[in-house]
Amino acid sequence: MPSTPMSGDVLSEARATNAAAPILSVRDLSVRFKLPQGAVTAVDRVSFDLHRGEVVGIVGESGSGKSQILLSLMGLLASNGSATGSARFENTEILGRTAKELDGIRGSAMSMIFQDPMTSLNPYMRVSDQLTEVLMVHQGKSQREALGIAIDLLDRVRIPEARRRIGLYPHEFSGGMRQRVMIAMALLCRPSLLFADEPTTALDVTVQAQILELLGELARDLDAAVAIVTHDLGVIARLCDRVIVLYGGRIMEQGTLDEIFYDPRHPYTKGLLASTPRLDERTHGELLTIPGQPRAAMGDLPGCPFSPRCALRTAPCDSAMPPLVADAGGRRLACHNSPLEDRRP
Ligand SMILES: Nc1ncnc2c1ncn2[C@@H]1O[C@H](COP(=O)(O)OP(=O)(O)OP(=O)(O)O)[C@@H](O)[C@H]1O
Ligand SMILES: [Mg+2]
Repeated sequence: MPSTPMSGDVLSEARATNAAAPILSVRDLSVRFKLPQGAVTAVDRVSFDLHRGEVVGIVGESGSGKSQILLSLMGLLASNGSATGSARFENTEILGRTAKELDGIRGSAMSMIFQDPMTSLNPYMRVSDQLTEVLMVHQGKSQREALGIAIDLLDRVRIPEARRRIGLYPHEFSGGMRQRVMIAMALLCRPSLLFADEPTTALDVTVQAQILELLGELARDLDAAVAIVTHDLGVIARLCDRVIVLYGGRIMEQGTLDEIFYDPRHPYTKGLLASTPRLDERTHGELLTIPGQPRAAMGDLPGCPFSPRCALRTAPCDSAMPPLVADAGGRRLACHNSPLEDRRP
């Protein structure tokens, strides 16, 4: 008798589960590089999910493995690198696929914005040809249709006189404009997953802010999942819903923007926040820094990679990497000496 409401419930539950299903699920991702003196581990058993409509920041000092996470997922590791683990994009395993196998989704369903626009722009081709080619190859558009879409998108990324400028070569654009062209290129095929690796560090602060806002706005319009890599916490604060804090190739802490900024638990996260000038402070005093140097990429050493620099270090920190434990809300922390449970009143 209660079959109708029951099946309705089951259906809505199934829909809710589906709506919450991640678009990208990364599990135990490790990246290793072979060097003449032996192998180094740049990314060490990293797991995370990305959902449509959210912007996740991956933050950490230089060399912490941020870029290698994104590059391995895009199938773009250097030739001496290899990735293990699993990465499912819309339920398809993408890790370990050849460039040819990934071509169908790279640049269309999944795309990447690089720090240097010239990584993805061809200096010898007019911007019009580069943008229309993507649409013609991936979406079978006619040249005329493709040109119309490309001009619209250049308008949207606020390139003045887009109709005229689309005929120019990349070097005829300023740095900020080139960055916008690259954003347009990454969004052309309306990707559902977008990676951005330090997309604005080469630009001056005002242009950075404009471009980041634009990126956030366009990603929201597309309902895409965005992972943005940066060592700049200001960028994270401006743009991200969730934050992953990386150190020595491992996730140290992960939480919502508020959790990480207002209630950081990991000593490294605390150090990172303390060494960043607050955006709302008019006078910047001397920057605090975390003493010591990051350990060279070598995840195979036992213990926590941060322990040599950590104020809370105890004996177990040097012998065993603390497990990454999660609370019911999905917040995660890897530290022997800092509790995860909520201590707020
Ligand atoms: N081809 C390579 N061969 C050997 N080691 C490499 C190679 N590429 C990267 N690495 C090492 O992998 C580690 C992680 O590098 P990665 O580029 O991910 O750092 P990052 O967090 O993006 O830093 P940055 O903020 O400086 O861009 C570094 O120690 C780096 O030296
Ligand atoms: Mg990098």
